[in-house]
Amino acid sequence: MTRVLEAEALGKIYQVPRGLFRAPRPLHAVDGVSFTLDAGKTLAIVGESGCGKSTLARQVTLIESPSSGRLLIDGKDATAPTPAERKALRRAVQMVFQNPYGSLNPRRTIGAALAEPLVINTTLSAAERDAAVAAMLSRVGLRPEHAERYPHMFSGGQRQRIAIARALMLRPRILVADEPVSALDVSVQAQVLNLLMDLQDEMGLAMVFISHDLGVVRFVADEVLVMYLGRPVEQAPAATLFESPRHPYTRALLAARPKIDADERAHRPPPLTGELPSPLNPPSGCVFRTRCPLATDRCAAERPELREIAGAKVACHFAT
Ligand SMILES: Nc1ncnc2c1ncn2[C@@H]1O[C@H](COP(=O)(O)OP(=O)(O)OP(=O)(O)O)[C@@H](O)[C@H]1O
Ligand SMILES: [Mg+2]
Repeated sequence: MTRVLEAEALGKIYQVPRGLFRAPRPLHAVDGVSFTLDAGKTLAIVGESGCGKSTLARQVTLIESPSSGRLLIDGKDATAPTPAERKALRRAVQMVFQNPYGSLNPRRTIGAALAEPLVINTTLSAAERDAAVAAMLSRVGLRPEHAERYPHMFSGGQRQRIAIARALMLRPRILVADEPVSALDVSVQAQVLNLLMDLQDEMGLAMVFISHDLGVVRFVADEVLVMYLGRPVEQAPAATLFESPRHPYTRALLAARPKIDADERAHRPPPLTGELPSPLNPPSGCVFRTRCPLATDRCAAERPELREIAGAKVACHFAT
């Protein structure tokens, strides 16, 4: 198994302006996230809006530099690369976004959009580029003649296939997919997920898959990282996490899924209540304590670190 991605205590702090005469306030968007990812495997990152998923994606794709911690891509230090190193590393990591319209220029043909990374990064001739584009279009379930068309001529699912094709043109080692099917009809979601998984197998891609939808995560993930207010609260192999979730937050997220039958309903914990605290002013100790049914004085005083319980890592004083 080849390790392609490694994050060690990765952190990102944004300075949020507070007006002309006051110092900006630090916001810990990602705090102490560690993981490893092997070729051909999928790490899913889940949590509510604002928990730091996209921020983490921007560190991994080198769009931003982390404020602390270390990032290794293919064994090379990618924490603070020089411009030349960054260029080389960015070939290895590509991204697919929730809204493919954002990444596709409406005035350029699909063929031009797919060829662009080849123009910038390779010495292929125009004919070789056309051939590569046609091959990739077929691979994602479109037709070579689609190269002549513009983004608005495609459905949402087709556009997402195009975005995936574009991300794969340079044969990356790692694909970061940030809510790649959230904007699609349910009927189309499974097709796009199957495509992603087929391409992953074919190309040995390591995938970081971001989603708020645990149903989707269960379908694709090998490992799951659950985040809350920038902190990792539970990390485990997918089978372990869905079989026996240990953090009260993970349990609450699972409880929020549609319920299957009466027996399952009866054994579920109550879904999440209460407001998400401001990330500018997170609770002391355990960040989840203000919404946690198990919270005690200890949780306000003492921050729980991730600890190993039966193959999972859980940041809770009371998890067993
Ligand atoms: N450039 C920035 N400057 C200041 N704060 C930021 C910036 N980018 C993100 N944040 C803050 O960092 C936190 C994490 O944001 P992020 O976008 O990573 O969350 P997310 O988990 O991707 O949410 P969503 O599910 O809504 O996409 C939020 O509180 C957000 O407001
Ligand atoms: Mg996001």
